[in-house]
Amino acid sequence: MNYIGSKKRLLPFICATISNLDGITLQESVFCDLFAGSGAVGAAFKTKVTQIISNDVEYFSYVLNRHRIGNTVPLEIEDIFEELNALEGVEGFVFKHYCKHATNEREYFSGENGQKIDAMRQKIGQLHHDKHIDDNSFFYLLASLIQSCDKVANTASVYGAYLKTLKDQAKKSIVIEPMSYEMSSRHHCVYNKNASELIRMISGDILYLDPPYNVRQYGADYHLLNTIALYDTFEPQGKTGRREYYRSVFCKKREAALALESLIQKAAFTYLVMSYSNDGILTLQDIKNIMKPYGSYKVVATEHKCFGRKREERSTMEYLHILKKTREN
Ligand SMILES: C[S@@+](CC[C@H](N)C(=O)[O-])C[C@H]1O[C@@H](n2cnc3c(N)ncnc32)[C@H](O)[C@@H]1O
Repeated sequence: MNYIGSKKRLLPFICATISNLDGITLQESVFCDLFAGSGAVGAAFKTKVTQIISNDVEYFSYVLNRHRIGNTVPLEIEDIFEELNALEGVEGFVFKHYCKHATNEREYFSGENGQKIDAMRQKIGQLHHDKHIDDNSFFYLLASLIQSCDKVANTASVYGAYLKTLKDQAKKSIVIEPMSYEMSSRHHCVYNKNASELIRMISGDILYLDPPYNVRQYGADYHLLNTIALYDTFEPQGKTGRREYYRSVFCKKREAALALESLIQKAAFTYLVMSYSNDGILTLQDIKNIMKPYGSYKVVATEHKCFGRKREERSTMEYLHILKKTREN
């Protein structure tokens, strides 16, 4: 999935840096991905470490990680994927509010896809409610549905707006495809919490931090994926049809600095490794000033070509701030 801020393309840099931390044996380490997003980083370490702790405050992201990180054994439910793909569409919440028809202007999905998404989401909920599938299969199906919806969404990249006319990709019929995941002999923990609260409850060896860099809130940009994941009922707001969303302190400059310091202070981890780019709301120096008093600090960097929200190609410096923590608080 094309997730804003995804570290998928930076994995070689992140993995090489973390694998070479002094005094760390990855196979014996507990690794926490505190702002997990798409789950790309946790997934890269899933088979390399003793345990992954994965967390994100957004529910749809929790769903992706609950499957990608939390599921560890083969789940043989190909027949359910076939059943879902064969369903007739229904006029449910997604069709009613997010597809264009006589009483609705919004067009995030074609009418046919909106109806199929409703039918698939209702069936997944019903199978789970009736105990025909367990939690592991429920999150497998739901994560797969979210990923498949994203492929046919009529947006430029995020759900802050829909396009005026259906783009070619959005005209294709949705097919729910199984989301891949790594098998593992270990048990991993996946949370859906505010990082500032979870940090008090966990401990380990490596804490990877990838908070939002700028003022754009993930809850606003990905509102529709949360709505499909939650499948609750509410009155969609305004032109975009947004739901109430979580506002992260890491998207506000003054509060971000205080929140980061508080995380660092409370972190019961040997190493803290934080991704941040040169166009974030905190500067390189801000982060250095916050981290340095807590132990031995250094920063490494790489140039990164990425796509902005309007799909334009641009280049940024991506930093990894590395703190070996020696001071408790
Ligand atoms: C830069 S993205 C992480 C990208 C991720 N590393 C990846 O590769 O996909 C930042 C994430 O932080 C999450 N987030 C923002 N504020 C948070 C908070 N207070 N607690 C937990 N997660 C938060 C957002 O929902 C978003 O998924």
